Amino acid sequence: MIKRVSPIIVGNWKSTPATLEEAIKFIKSLERKIASSKNKIPKKAYYIACPDIFIPHLVPITKRGYIGAENVSGTSIGQHTGLETPSQLQSGGASFTIIGHSEVRKRGETVEERAQKVTNALHIRLTTILCFGEHKRDKEGKYLEELENDVKQTLSQVKRELFSELLIAYEPIWAIGGTFPATPEECFEAVIAIRRALASLGGIDYAKKVHILYGGTVTESNAGSFIEEGGVDGLLIGRSSQELSSFVGILTALYTK
Ligand code: PGA
Repeated sequence: MIKRVSPIIVGNWKSTPATLEEAIKFIKSLERKIASSKNKIPKKAYYIACPDIFIPHLVPITKRGYIGAENVSGTSIGQHTGLETPSQLQSGGASFTIIGHSEVRKRGETVEERAQKVTNALHIRLTTILCFGEHKRDKEGKYLEELENDVKQTLSQVKRELFSELLIAYEPIWAIGGTFPATPEECFEAVIAIRRALASLGGIDYAKKVHILYGGTVTESNAGSFIEEGGVDGLLIGRSSQELSSFVGILTALYTK
């Protein structure tokens, strides 16, 4: 269980860096930069989701952040070659996990599998960042309905009493890995749609409290706008978290004011 402080800045390292040595060097340098920063950076300032194999090595050197997984399996302990359960990842040091990233969905993850993964992770109180986002937008705004339906479909299969360790990431697929992020306004309307879906599942009070992140081409220069105008409580950052200078740049930009 993580004590959350806004904004919640999550890096998604995907299949980077190439070696454990590079990963260790990154975290050590990041820790040094934060420690020597003149900005008021909170005690725990970042989350890094990294390849599973790096987790136990990075946890002991991570003082100012949290290390987590990029995905988990929905299976239980047993005969499942190549799959890691939330409890195994947690015992290796993971404080959180991402679930349902569009790159995982593209490899064939079904709604049922996603819901099972979320259930298993939340059951052991492993903080879970569950991703949603439309493939493309249409003028009629049908994508908002699809977004709401996706949230409802997945989470209706998860017990309401497990919801407290759940965060949502709004990641429009068209904005991931590209050049054009969503605008803060586009982000804002999607966040409203997501909260509407959450309200139908867990009630208005619950929906108001859930932390929602934005992800998709976040950079140093646009990071602040999503927090200030986009209605989100944090960011899920791919490429800009994989380079030390840009990730530090984002943290610095957010904690300058
Ligand atoms: P990006 O990736 O920041 O490189 O667009 C975001 C993500 O995939 O979570």
